Amino acid sequence: MRTFLGGSGQEGEESIGGGQALEIGVFGKNAAGFAEDAVGRAARAHQPERAAAVDSRAGCVYLGGLMKILVIGGGGREHALVWKLRQSPRVEKVWCAPGNGGISQDAECVAADMRDVAGLATLAEQVGADLTVVGPELPLVEGIADEFARRGRAIVGPSKQAARLEGSKVFAKEFLARHDIPTAALYGVYDSPGDAYSALCAVDWPVVVKADGLCAGKGVLVTSSPDEATAFLERLMEQKELGEGGSRVLMEEALEGEELSYIVLTDGRDVLPLPPTRDHKRVFDGNQGPNTGGMGTYSMDGLISAELENAILERTVRPAIAGMVAEGAPYRGFLYFGLMLTRNGPKVLEFNCRLGDPEAQAILVRADFDLAEVLHAAATEGLGGKALAWKEGASACVVMASAGYPGEIEAGKRIDGLVEASEVNDVVVFHAGTKREADIHYTSSGRVLGLTATGASLEQALSKCYEAAGKIRFEGAHYRKDIGAAAAGKRSAAGD
Ligand SMILES: Nc1ncnc2c1ncn2[C@@H]1O[C@H](COP(=O)(O)OP(=O)(O)OP(=O)(O)O)[C@@H](O)[C@H]1O
Ligand SMILES: [Mg+2]
Repeated sequence: MRTFLGGSGQEGEESIGGGQALEIGVFGKNAAGFAEDAVGRAARAHQPERAAAVDSRAGCVYLGGLMKILVIGGGGREHALVWKLRQSPRVEKVWCAPGNGGISQDAECVAADMRDVAGLATLAEQVGADLTVVGPELPLVEGIADEFARRGRAIVGPSKQAARLEGSKVFAKEFLARHDIPTAALYGVYDSPGDAYSALCAVDWPVVVKADGLCAGKGVLVTSSPDEATAFLERLMEQKELGEGGSRVLMEEALEGEELSYIVLTDGRDVLPLPPTRDHKRVFDGNQGPNTGGMGTYSMDGLISAELENAILERTVRPAIAGMVAEGAPYRGFLYFGLMLTRNGPKVLEFNCRLGDPEAQAILVRADFDLAEVLHAAATEGLGGKALAWKEGASACVVMASAGYPGEIEAGKRIDGLVEASEVNDVVVFHAGTKREADIHYTSSGRVLGLTATGASLEQALSKCYEAAGKIRFEGAHYRKDIGAAAAGKRSAAGD
């Protein structure tokens, strides 16, 4: 196991990006309150990075004894959170709202409406939660963190203002420009379909069309076809197929390169990076078929070089965290940077105000620290002095989906082989769309399970995921057979 030690001046063994020993500096601060040149090195080593001070934090009832935790959401990401939180000796009990079939074996599930932030806060009060952890974006964009702050309850997640980084792509784009953070060139923002159609005459192709608001992953089109762009605009802006989120759009330059998900945990001041991951959005092998919520993901040591990680932190993460402080909306919680690694360096494609799904599954199986303690600190006294340790090697998550996904699916299929799959070494079977009746699990939505494993190498992690997937049976089950294959192939070709 590799450890990344706190700011005590002790020396860790290796940085995530390569083999060199940690160099821990005493952080001098620049005008923005950031550590000077030690930042990159420290952050590579998963040390907290310092930004400007934060004024207020959520109140907290927890006094250092056993914690009661409420997790909000009901997918694979939330199952992974519940699974990891339950391993903490500091945790007395975990609730999950609404949870799912698999989560119901690890936590007490309570029905909940993700939009009803007052109801969710009342639930936290009723169960006496010392800490609430929010999985999905909807309650965050609706202001759940503000509601909890008003009631003096600790919560991991950004305020409504800060969650605009995900809730409004126009806000995010303008924020990136204000803080000089590299991103795709913006062609324009359009409130009326007429203006949007006319703008198509002046853009470069391919073009990227993005709905401003939340559209459940369906509000973005990258296309070289003016007809396709026009049809998409019509569906978004005139037919309002994706709701109000589509009534305003932006158009931007299409970037080329490899994508990377880079997620950090921050209290608004200190930043702890998580291992970077790669996602697989298309439903079929070879990146064919429509986009989904994510069909699989992986992480591995050396996925990106230390130099690149430093560039990501210096050019995107650090200015974003400082920018939110400067704008009076310090960001607290998980912040997901969707990046394009272009020839001219990393550029921000999007922000998400939460952990990704299935990125969270692949990340949390590598976590070698007390998640409850770290998240509680993030929500209350701050992350200063905290450090995260990760299992060495790699991890992967392969998503099994229902027939028809990401289109219409038929739920209620009996799932067999769950116990056999979970008995494969180093495999955790995270449930997403399942429900449990007596001791039998049935499918309940598109993405059903995330077979997740760690391994000394990516190849090993993947082979365990696929061995587990081979043991699961439900009618119409499908999954991609090429998760991580490009990276694993590159490694074997290089003789690693
Ligand atoms: N400027 C761009 N150039 C090239 N591709 C892009 C660009 N912007 C977005 N994309 C592609 O579209 C995908 C979705 O875009 P984006 O992440 O902004 O949308 P989203 O709907 O918020 O996604 P998610 O559901 O992952 O949060 C990206 O992962 C990327 O593949
Ligand atoms: Mg997004």
